[in-house]
Amino acid sequence: MLTAYDYSVAKLIDAAGIDVILVGDSLGMTMLGYEDTLPVTMEDMIHHTACVSRGAKDAFVIADMPFMSYQTSVHDAVYNAGRLIKEGHAHAIKLEGGASVCEQIKAITEASIPVCAHIGLTPQSTNAFGGFKVQGKNMQRAKQIVEDALSVQEAGAFMVTLECIPEKLASLITDILDIPTIGIGAGNGCDGQVLVYHDMLGMFTDFKPKFVKHFGNIGEEMTKAFVSYRDEVKSKAYPAAEHTFKIEDEIMEELYKEYR
Ligand code: KIV
Repeated sequence: MLTAYDYSVAKLIDAAGIDVILVGDSLGMTMLGYEDTLPVTMEDMIHHTACVSRGAKDAFVIADMPFMSYQTSVHDAVYNAGRLIKEGHAHAIKLEGGASVCEQIKAITEASIPVCAHIGLTPQSTNAFGGFKVQGKNMQRAKQIVEDALSVQEAGAFMVTLECIPEKLASLITDILDIPTIGIGAGNGCDGQVLVYHDMLGMFTDFKPKFVKHFGNIGEEMTKAFVSYRDEVKSKAYPAAEHTFKIEDEIMEELYKEYR
């Protein structure tokens, strides 16, 4: 699984044979420049999900439910999940939280919308956690995460994202659950992995979490290309003859006679 937020990148990811595209609320940081995901709205999510859905022909598209679109009530959760499917054309939704959001997971699932749960480090709870920190390192929190995993499965989630928890804890959860686990910062024992594409391409440089690997340096390549463009436009090397449209000389002679 990889994130995408627009048509062109969704097409590229789809063509690479990635099974699942996540329209993550991480778009708040990568696309919109916020410090965290909290300001992201339903309108933002629907807009970007619809772009991705138009580009993804084979991949399964999951859309994130933004902060306060499902925590407020079960009714809001079902209504907003429905909007991501009807208006964004997602195949499924993802929401953050364990036992505390199981009523929402159950109701959304009963409305025939597949739900991917998200536990461990849940970025929408950054204020409650006191920042982006690894979760589940002590016995109490580790047990709570295992219980959350069992609860979301019981509530009907078809898949669960495990974010920023120790590898061995993620492996235990993967072992005891029947549904697939998708890890991000949760080691190699999960059933699948997800990354934010800006992170894995080296395009987001505000900070680099320990679990991120750069599979390319596209950010650097883009900057190089922008600099070349600037230089070639200034030196008039671009546009060259092959980028230019032609017109009959006689027409130009007439136009010069009339206008110069
Ligand atoms: O918003 C997002 O991109 C996510 C992934 C980091 C799992 O939730």
